[in-house]
Amino acid sequence: MQVYLNGEFVEQEEAKVSVADRGFVFGDGVYEVTRIVDGRFIMENEHLGRLEEGLNGLKINLHKSVFEQIPVISRELLTKNGHLEGEATVYLQVTRGASVPRTHEFPSPPVEPTVYLSSAPFKPHTKLHEEGVDAISVMDVRWSRCNLKTINLLPNTMAKQQAKEAGVNSAVMVRDGVITESPNANIFCAKDGVLYTYPASPYILNGITRRAVLKIAEQSGIPVIYEPVRFDELHEIDELFFSGTTTDIQPVTVIDGKPVGSGKPGDVVRAIQEGYSELLYQKAEV
Ligand SMILES: Cc1ncc(COP(=O)(O)O)c(C=O)c1O
Repeated sequence: MQVYLNGEFVEQEEAKVSVADRGFVFGDGVYEVTRIVDGRFIMENEHLGRLEEGLNGLKINLHKSVFEQIPVISRELLTKNGHLEGEATVYLQVTRGASVPRTHEFPSPPVEPTVYLSSAPFKPHTKLHEEGVDAISVMDVRWSRCNLKTINLLPNTMAKQQAKEAGVNSAVMVRDGVITESPNANIFCAKDGVLYTYPASPYILNGITRRAVLKIAEQSGIPVIYEPVRFDELHEIDELFFSGTTTDIQPVTVIDGKPVGSGKPGDVVRAIQEGYSELLYQKAEV
């Protein structure tokens, strides 16, 4: 398997990053995961747009010529790894780069950012899409810049581990009494045929799949209210589901051992799944 690192394609095991890299030392970087179906990038421009927002948010100066090469590099990588057929993902990470001595403030003058891309085959979580997932609730202990897709994912990885240790698939994070998102997906609730979602704000990542869901809802005549659901009102809602690049659209049927609504995937999530599946596999425009 080849990866791309700072201008070169190299075998994965030969790729080396400096121990002085601020990604390693401070988690000072951003990432994106993009889905590819038979060589077709799903919502590529949206991912590139969010990457740009993240780089600007962290004040990482990636040279425009390098940024513009990302689609070309991604395709070359997929070709080299034989991932242009079937399903795949491209992982991209940009850190502020390597600098000594270790200082909290940014290196001055700036150093070259580290640019890393890898690709992997992907298998959708079909069983979870069909049957729904079990989750636990956890406290959302993340910072207040969750709109930036940074590589600082400790609260997310710890929440996922907590879910694993509880014998369930994922977690629903709760901040100040309201449901925000899962460790790696956005959350939608449905009540009486209306969708509710936490508004795009510094407290959630504005997922690319979330944006697709909102368009599918609009096209399907499903009203959307940009308000989060309170955790103590969970028993009143009919459906809850996750959306994400590798999650797709996953109904959540049990939280903390209690059924959500009927405890089975409902009509709203099925309608959204159908629209999203068209987007992935039938090249529908959203
Ligand atoms: C915290 C968080 N929220 C939401 C998402 C979903 O975003 P996207 O649909 O862009 O994959 C992710 C994806 O990794 C995530 O990590």
